[in-house]
Amino acid sequence: MSGSERAGSGAEDLAAWRHEFPILGSTNYLISNSLGAMPRGAAAALEQYARAWAKRGVRAWDEGWWEMPVAVGDMVAPIIGAPTGTVTMHQSVTLAEAVVLSCFEPRGPRNKIVFEDGNFPSVQYLYGAQPGLRVASVPVERLVDAIDDQTLLVPISHVLFKSSFVQDVPAIVEKAHRVGALVVLDVYQSAGVLPLDVGALGVDFAVGGCLKWLCGGPGNGFLYVRPDLAQLTPKLTGWMAHADPFRFEPPPIRYAEGPFRFLNGTPSIPCLYAAIEGLRIIREVGVARIREQSVRLTERLLRSIDERGFPSITPRDAARRGGTVAVNPPDAEAISRRLLERNFFIDYRPGAGIRISPHFYNTDDECDAIVAEIAALAAGRPSLRATRH
Ligand SMILES: Cc1ncc(COP(=O)(O)O)c(C=O)c1O
Repeated sequence: MSGSERAGSGAEDLAAWRHEFPILGSTNYLISNSLGAMPRGAAAALEQYARAWAKRGVRAWDEGWWEMPVAVGDMVAPIIGAPTGTVTMHQSVTLAEAVVLSCFEPRGPRNKIVFEDGNFPSVQYLYGAQPGLRVASVPVERLVDAIDDQTLLVPISHVLFKSSFVQDVPAIVEKAHRVGALVVLDVYQSAGVLPLDVGALGVDFAVGGCLKWLCGGPGNGFLYVRPDLAQLTPKLTGWMAHADPFRFEPPPIRYAEGPFRFLNGTPSIPCLYAAIEGLRIIREVGVARIREQSVRLTERLLRSIDERGFPSITPRDAARRGGTVAVNPPDAEAISRRLLERNFFIDYRPGAGIRISPHFYNTDDECDAIVAEIAALAAGRPSLRATRH
């Protein structure tokens, strides 16, 4: 089936994509906040990688591999509203944040890092481990006020990973820029499920990855740098950032112009191959349609969770809610383990409970089935559903 044949707008049209994701045939896959389902085409892309390595050998570097961290970044760019040539691929968000951080030398009093206390822990660990920085980790309600004229960077999550709360990015950017601070927006939990325009938001950097809502597998972090900051000089650098890398000149590095400047060592080529198909599909389906389906399914989940009286920290206002619904019945952790045994794919996070994350490829029935199963397990009456091997 071609893309245009699938280009309707209803849930049935979205269901037509299901056969592209093999795992949907054997599980109730509701864990795209953690690992998006693998598109069948990713396997073909990895075979293509293996063929290039086997048959083209070292020539493969000249036949596309060298450019891949920028070429794949160019596929991420339209999904997050970034211009071509502003996104590079890195192993992880943590490393992409480290590249950003290495562009700055905190001098004098401007050495403060401000973020929300629900920020992803890896990001908090990175900033917290740096000598010479003061970290202010504050509740979301106090974030804007905490940004002051001593603030260097505001590395925040767009959508909080536990609660799925969507932060008020324009207000944060406005305050940061007014006092001379720069914003690093982590879009890991928004790219691919929430319409996103990093240019219009005016953020200085954005980081994210293809692992979750972009269905691209691990090892595919990305970094967007606002075009007018493209002259920054990351100290976490390497030969790929050199203006003429194959001259192997002695240091200091002469930085490349353009996106290569933000790279460092040899990229993870197989991971980049794996990411291409997910990015193609997300683009073809369209994030606006994905968001429509996501709002519908998360609302449906919340309704049946409420009907059963289970607590949830997920925002009720759709405009403030990402793609995940958390539900916290008594014994949630034990229930989450039983769900996994029974082929319901979800995860459990302390403080949030069971996280359920439908993507465009999930159905109403799948959302109804998981809440029914949680209720049955909570009542000690699980369904007769087959368990996984
Ligand atoms: C908001 C957010 N940031 C970052 C990460 C992961 O960071 P990294 O790519 O460094 O593993 C995750 C999820 O795993 C996340 O939810």
